[in-house]
Amino acid sequence: MASVVRIEELEKTYILESVLVPALKGVTLEVEEGDFVALMGPSGSGKSTLLNLLGCLDRPTYGQYFLADQDIAHLDDDQLSEIRSRYLGFIFQQYNLLPQYTVVENIEIPLLYQGCKITDQTLERCEGLARLVGLGDRFDHRPMQLSGGQQQRVAIARALVNDPAVILADEPTGNLDSHTSDEIMNLLARLNDIGKTIIMVTHENEIASWAKRIIRMRDGLIESDVRNNELHSRSPGTISLPPEMLERLVQPQGFQQAGAN
Ligand SMILES: Nc1ncnc2c1ncn2[C@@H]1O[C@H](COP(=O)(O)OP(=O)(O)OP(=O)(O)O)[C@@H](O)[C@H]1O
Ligand SMILES: [Mg+2]
Repeated sequence: MASVVRIEELEKTYILESVLVPALKGVTLEVEEGDFVALMGPSGSGKSTLLNLLGCLDRPTYGQYFLADQDIAHLDDDQLSEIRSRYLGFIFQQYNLLPQYTVVENIEIPLLYQGCKITDQTLERCEGLARLVGLGDRFDHRPMQLSGGQQQRVAIARALVNDPAVILADEPTGNLDSHTSDEIMNLLARLNDIGKTIIMVTHENEIASWAKRIIRMRDGLIESDVRNNELHSRSPGTISLPPEMLERLVQPQGFQQAGAN
């Protein structure tokens, strides 16, 4: 399998009121296409810092980063946002949905950032993704009208809409009860089963048990990196993935850019 993420000697030092805070101290890591990685470690060990760098939300102080073979570490802000909208899907603990938008409109957002026109084809895909995550009867609901688990499903659908090379999730179940967490993890695991690469930060062993590879960080470095031999079993659950939907999910979309015609 090809590496989709490759970082070498990545360092990040924050400057806080003229004090240097070394958050990452030289992290080297490769993630293969189709892998499911849990990033663990104590508070302050650098998990979110690493995820933010992988997500092109921030730049390293030193080191190299290749995402789908593109050299990322030295790109400017515009180029980074282009990479984010094309290659990455994000899932956050707080869902980060836009409250004034409906379920389907929230799922469309990455396409808008990417400069796509909203057409019948894109609308159909967004509605399809809403169905995929079990919200087929909620297209026009707004986030406030949804439970936490349902909001996180919208966020997962949104993270899939641009067919990203990697899905990055920071504590995706951090705000959910254990039953809903299980449903969300089952959904992520099934997306991984169909080939989606996922890198997820979590504090909880139970949540990490869904991942195929567990990386533990400490003081800005990788402390251990092991294959998970006790993979959490997937259940069919309430979410069905029809084959034609799967096919559309794993294939690049090639939507028309606004103004491209
Ligand atoms: N924007 C920032 N400015 C200054 N220091 C920061 C900033 N963000 C993080 N840090 C520091 O960098 C270190 C790593 O933080 P990070 O948020 O990556 O940890 P974490 O492993 O995600 O922790 P948690 O489990 O609590 O979320 C910590 O010492 C933190 O205080
Ligand atoms: Mg964190």
